[in-house]
Amino acid sequence: MKIELTKMSHSGSTLVAFALNEKAGKETRLKITHPALQLRLKKVIDDKELSLKPEECVLFRNMDFEGYKHVVVVGLSDLINHEQIRRTAAAIHCCVKPLGKTVATIDFDGIPADKREAVQCLQALVEGLILTDYDFSELKSSKKTDKKTSADKNLVFHILTKFSDDADSKKALKEAHVLAETVNFSRRLGDLPGNLMTPTILANTVVAACRGTGIKATVWNKARIKKEKMGGLLGVSNGSDQEPRFIILEYKGAAASKKPVAFVGKGLTFDCGGVSIKPSGGMEEMKYDMCGGANVIGAMLAIAKLKLKVNVICLVPSTENMVNGSATKPGDVHTARNGKTFEINNTDAEGRLILSDALCFASEHKPQVIIDAATLTGAMIVALGNTHTGYFTRNKELKEKIEMASEQSGEWVWNMPLCDFHVKDMKGTYADLSNMSSGKGAGSATAAAFLEQFVEEGIPWAHFDIAGTGWAVGNRLPYCPKKGASGAMIRTFVELAKMYV
Ligand code: BES
Ligand code: MN
Ligand code: ZN
Repeated sequence: MKIELTKMSHSGSTLVAFALNEKAGKETRLKITHPALQLRLKKVIDDKELSLKPEECVLFRNMDFEGYKHVVVVGLSDLINHEQIRRTAAAIHCCVKPLGKTVATIDFDGIPADKREAVQCLQALVEGLILTDYDFSELKSSKKTDKKTSADKNLVFHILTKFSDDADSKKALKEAHVLAETVNFSRRLGDLPGNLMTPTILANTVVAACRGTGIKATVWNKARIKKEKMGGLLGVSNGSDQEPRFIILEYKGAAASKKPVAFVGKGLTFDCGGVSIKPSGGMEEMKYDMCGGANVIGAMLAIAKLKLKVNVICLVPSTENMVNGSATKPGDVHTARNGKTFEINNTDAEGRLILSDALCFASEHKPQVIIDAATLTGAMIVALGNTHTGYFTRNKELKEKIEMASEQSGEWVWNMPLCDFHVKDMKGTYADLSNMSSGKGAGSATAAAFLEQFVEEGIPWAHFDIAGTGWAVGNRLPYCPKKGASGAMIRTFVELAKMYV
């Protein structure tokens, strides 16, 4: 897919215009933002034969209007926000794509907004188009998409706007490309199955993706992980024939003396539960247990490509959670990097174990803030479903920053409770900690409380549990796959990083 800004209409192509649902007393009236098209469709509009609720599309095939072959009209509400534009972009993409090899001209200027607002809407439109264009079909023998970008090769969108030569528009176009393409990059990592996305492959893919971005990538193998006393990561990897990896990404966009922002992500390339094995139904989806890692990697790539003036480190412990003769057994005790011991009472609660070492390592860098993302608990799905990402933090200022970042990105988040009761539930009988709560319920909060034990006191820290939002959110967000990785929180994390420049 290609997207260009233009001042000139492109004859022979498909015209896409917007229809505002304007409130007039109790009624809503359609107003098409393309004046000539409004005139042409006046009768059907006046006769109320055309209804276009927000995000609804209608295709007028072979309309032959002002040199355009087909015409697509898409509904908008009268209260336009960026998230609505992103979804509208999905509707446009779905309507235009089946037309085959096609060039579509989106008439953008009618959007009622001042220039600043229009530029932000433009960014949202481009993001929505690229996010919708993602299609994971590279494993089908009749590959339909480019493997690296998962994008449709035949589609071209021209966005018709009087701001096409404007520096702000160009910047918005670039930022939209960077954000949406890194989201698609991370989605692909999550969508690739466990046999094609092992810890080694993940590390190699990320190293390759970092080339030319200014990011320094370092990968530790099993021997190094052992030497570094990462007993949590090592213990989980015991049951797997695949070697674990510890991925370290460093980006320096600010003075060397400036403390970094630290991202940590769970990189479990397949989670069968280990000896405490999961039920087989749906187990195939546990390939997405590395989405926390994939998404912090995506955020890191976007931050570097946008050249944000901030220092960032990104840490991803990666392993499989499998079962063989050397696998960790219930009751086993392992020691994390900071010397704290834990007894493993359920081998399926493995994410917290691999994150423990990464959080210790992050703390050693004395960062301004630590942000982690993980598909950590099924309880998170029970609590919030797949709309909101639950996050945990005890730091008020960080909470405010997260809420502002989410407002900006359009990704929904929800602050979850984390208190000393949850910590108490994670005390061990024989070791310092247990990886299972002794209490009932609050499975996501007790998991967060476990993680907190590995964050050095005084460092602001937030944990994002993306178990519900990392996968199959297409029923809510039309620019996301129905079944597949979503890239949740990448855009929010980039917004958050901007607050530390
Ligand atoms: N990766 C899972 C959590 C998960 C479940 C993510 C479903 C996405 C969808 C995690 O490793 C896990 O198995 N957690 C256990 C913890 C429990 C044993 C304390 C869970 O949530 O059941
Ligand atoms: Mn598990
Ligand atoms: Zn897991």
